[in-house]
Amino acid sequence: MVPRCRPLALHLQSAMAKFSNGCVVVVALICFLAMISRTANGQLSSTFYSSTCPNLQSIVRSAMTQAVNREKRIGASILRLFFHDCFVNGCDGSILLDDTSSFTGEKTAGPNNNSVRGFDVIDTIKTNVESACPSTVSCADILALAARDSVVLLGGPTWTVPLGRRDATTASLSTANSDLPSPASSLAQLISAFSNKGLNSRDLTALSGGHTIGQSRCVNFRAHIYNDANIDSAFATSRQANCPSASGSGDDNLAPLDLQTLVVFDNDYYKNLVVRRGLLHSDQELFNNGSQDSLVRQYRNNNAAFSRDFTAAMIKMGNISPLTETSGEIRVNCRKVNG
Ligand code: HEM
Ligand SMILES: *[C@@H]1O[C@H](CO)[C@@H](O)[C@H](O)[C@H]1NC(C)=O
Ligand SMILES: *[C@@H]1O[C@H](CO)[C@@H](O)[C@H](O)[C@H]1NC(C)=O
Repeated sequence: MVPRCRPLALHLQSAMAKFSNGCVVVVALICFLAMISRTANGQLSSTFYSSTCPNLQSIVRSAMTQAVNREKRIGASILRLFFHDCFVNGCDGSILLDDTSSFTGEKTAGPNNNSVRGFDVIDTIKTNVESACPSTVSCADILALAARDSVVLLGGPTWTVPLGRRDATTASLSTANSDLPSPASSLAQLISAFSNKGLNSRDLTALSGGHTIGQSRCVNFRAHIYNDANIDSAFATSRQANCPSASGSGDDNLAPLDLQTLVVFDNDYYKNLVVRRGLLHSDQELFNNGSQDSLVRQYRNNNAAFSRDFTAAMIKMGNISPLTETSGEIRVNCRKVNG
């Protein structure tokens, strides 16, 4: 509870020095009231670290800039990490925890195994943040900032990231398996998976635009390019060339989720859906004579509308059951709970 007061206390430090002890009581009271009001709503705030770690955002941005300059795809991988963190017991950094002999994390869950990447970049950022502001900034917040920076560095829109999440001391392999949507999902299943997290179908369709960047392995789109009817046949043929039909063969072969610009964050994803060139079955479900067709058309025609809804939905996703106040901890190493 004491660390909660630190920002305010620091802020008022010089003022306090000028006044009598009686004033310290007033300051303590203000601090206490601020604490109570935060406890009451557990809200995140974009200024959460402004006095405790004023350079946080530039530390994250500079490490992300280096990482993306080295490999553009890493921006996509980090954006996806944030999604996979938030959908499993909230945005609590649980996906970052390594398995040990006595701890089972989420990294080997079906949607994550041999697929999620970018942990080394989060480690680098955490090391830099720890040296500037020890034991102050959560891994969950670092991931939220890194995901925003990924989108911006690949040419997408920006937004202000609410902060103040704390890190989980637990993880759930079974929840990662049950709550992360499968690429074989129907539209109804996608809507329900998002609705379970407090996100509506508009959020689903906007957030799916995250597939404007990055890649998928053949194992995740094989069924769509061989078995589905709602796919452009020339597109299916070209994807089949590097994704053999036999299960087990070429499973890890990669294809871009967005065939035009795999490292540029734009609305091409929706342009592809309208011409039946979605790579995943789940992608094409958003434009398959269903409830999301008109919104897909709208985002295809209007990049600004997509940007507006995407950023709003990212903030909403980032608000999924965060740990705040005295819940959880500020991990020192994002890969393991504090000893
Ligand atoms: C709507 C349900 C979703 C499903 C079924 C889904 C499924 C997938 C699958 C199967 C892959 C390929 C993984 C692999 O083959 O290794 C993938 C990649 C990716 N997903 Fe999603 N996803 C969904 C929503 C989202 C959301 C909401 C975001 C972010 C806002 C997102 C961002 C990404 C990114 C950026 C990649 C590429 C990662 C990389 O290249 O490393 N996805 N997704
Ligand atoms: C994860 O992938 C590894 C390497 O391919 C594999 O040996 C392991 O069985 C997989 N784990 C799970 C839980 O599927
Ligand atoms: C949608 O409905 C139209 C008209 O009934 C049909 O021609 C088309 O194949 C259907 N599927 C998709 C994906 O548009």
